[in-house]
Amino acid sequence: MGFNNILTSSNNAVMRITVNRPDKLNALNLDTLLELGQAFEDAANDEATRVVVLTGSGEKAFVAGADISEINQLSPMEAKDFSELGQQLMLQIENLGKPVIAAVNGFALGGGCELALACSIRLASDNARFGLPEIKLGVIPGFGGTQRLVRMVGRAKALEMTLTGNPISGQDALQLNLVSKLFNQAELQDQADKLAATMAGSAPIAMQHILHIIQHGADLPLNAALDMETQLFALCCSTHDMREGTSAFLEKRQAEFTGR
Ligand code: COA
Repeated sequence: MGFNNILTSSNNAVMRITVNRPDKLNALNLDTLLELGQAFEDAANDEATRVVVLTGSGEKAFVAGADISEINQLSPMEAKDFSELGQQLMLQIENLGKPVIAAVNGFALGGGCELALACSIRLASDNARFGLPEIKLGVIPGFGGTQRLVRMVGRAKALEMTLTGNPISGQDALQLNLVSKLFNQAELQDQADKLAATMAGSAPIAMQHILHIIQHGADLPLNAALDMETQLFALCCSTHDMREGTSAFLEKRQAEFTGR
């Protein structure tokens, strides 16, 4: 499928997905949401892809939110569909089974912040701004932001950010563990590619199980989550990659993981 609002490219085992509406600060209109859904489906289905990097075009924005010109026209039923579509995309990213690194290169507001929150790891440039400003438009976050933000930064900060709508700096996001690392704008994309390339060398099945247990374990009672951890640990021991990884260590050589 050809895309009009996003760019995709693959280099070795890393797929890069770029939201490409720089004139609108990469705002998520309906078509962009649908195209992102298709691109992530492609990434999931492509065996050669082990890691995805998600970013925005231009130097100003990752994604400045859902497209306000479309929100302005929504009836309540259309708004319900729009919210569900956005939520579905975020779940799709979270449950991709492959790590998604968000390279947040500027504004990550509203739906853009929600998109970043659904990714596995967030790297950001020093001009990044994170926020859920929906209150300023008379609505609330609708792509999962009320739930993912509170789980990531705690109730007090999530309430402050959603009730005021004021964005926080990349430095504040770093202190809140919302981002893993900050870089100069000029360095960010290379650093994201570097991290992605390193992670692409890891055992894909183990990465998939880590994503699953970290994602779903946190919402379970501890005993159930520990039980899930045991089962996934045991499942890893059925893989060729487990034999390869442990043998490579013992033989003092680099492991070559094949995803089997
Ligand atoms: N939806 C639709 N269009 C958007 C947008 C959004 N979320 N965010 C930015 N744009 C558009 C602007 O309308 C403008 O388009 P125009 O040139 O056709 O008028 C263009 O992108 C550039 O934005 P502009 O506001 O001129 O840039 P700025 O540097 O002055 O301000 C922001 C940047 C991010 C502070 C400002 O664009 C903004 O507040 N955006 C909305 C953020 C938001 O509320 N997101 C949540 C939506 S639910």
